[in-house]
Amino acid sequence: MKASERIICALDLDEPAKAWQMVESLAGRISFYKVGMLLYLAGGGEMVRRLTGQGHRVFLDLKFYDVPDTVAAAVRQAATMGVNFLTVHGNKEILQRAGEAAVGTGLKVLGVTVLTSLDQADIRELGFPCSVEELVLRRAQWALEAGCAGVVASPREASLLRQRLGPELLLVTPGIRPAGSDLGTHKRAATPRQALQAGADYLVIGQPITRAADPRAAAKKIIQEIEAFS
Ligand code: C5P
Repeated sequence: MKASERIICALDLDEPAKAWQMVESLAGRISFYKVGMLLYLAGGGEMVRRLTGQGHRVFLDLKFYDVPDTVAAAVRQAATMGVNFLTVHGNKEILQRAGEAAVGTGLKVLGVTVLTSLDQADIRELGFPCSVEELVLRRAQWALEAGCAGVVASPREASLLRQRLGPELLLVTPGIRPAGSDLGTHKRAATPRQALQAGADYLVIGQPITRAADPRAAAKKIIQEIEAFS
């Protein structure tokens, strides 16, 4: 896979027009985009269909969490829109039904492990009597056992997941910050190079590209930084 193909640009923008402008400015450099709740609320399914219709790959990051029937139906719906990756947050049954709904569609279901904004104190506050690493590993194991393609996890846990769960696991990591850039709300961030060294397959990168004065140049710099690993 080429370095540029490993980058999924998070289009966390509040208007479809801004998102299109971003996609146009990244033409030829980035072709995989994450649509999260902000842009989905602004642009809806039309935004997603337009992206896939233009040949871009789409990671629909709506973190589905509902009863298994509802989640399975939503996964089938997303598959008809040409979505490539999609996130589900849930127990084994939810993950299993989501994975089953995606079979034969080309859509890969990713389980959410632990958000990169959460640290040990946050996990304790949520009521989990274990470490962040244990929770990430347990949820990733469930995802694989349930037939999902992989998980979204912090780059800090990527090597643990790779070591324990092997090469089959599709590992997508947000919380990426090129060296020297602002961490924002990320508490468990890493550089693009560190994340790939740790075993990530895809890097979700938003603000370091979308908030850069020159997004196209920022994307190029990141691609160059990771070229050695692709
Ligand atoms: O911070 P950045 O814009 O690179 O974030 C890209 C994606 O990473 C966001 O769309 C969000 O889903 C995820 N994120 C995260 N933890 C944070 C902030 C963002 O996992 N603290």
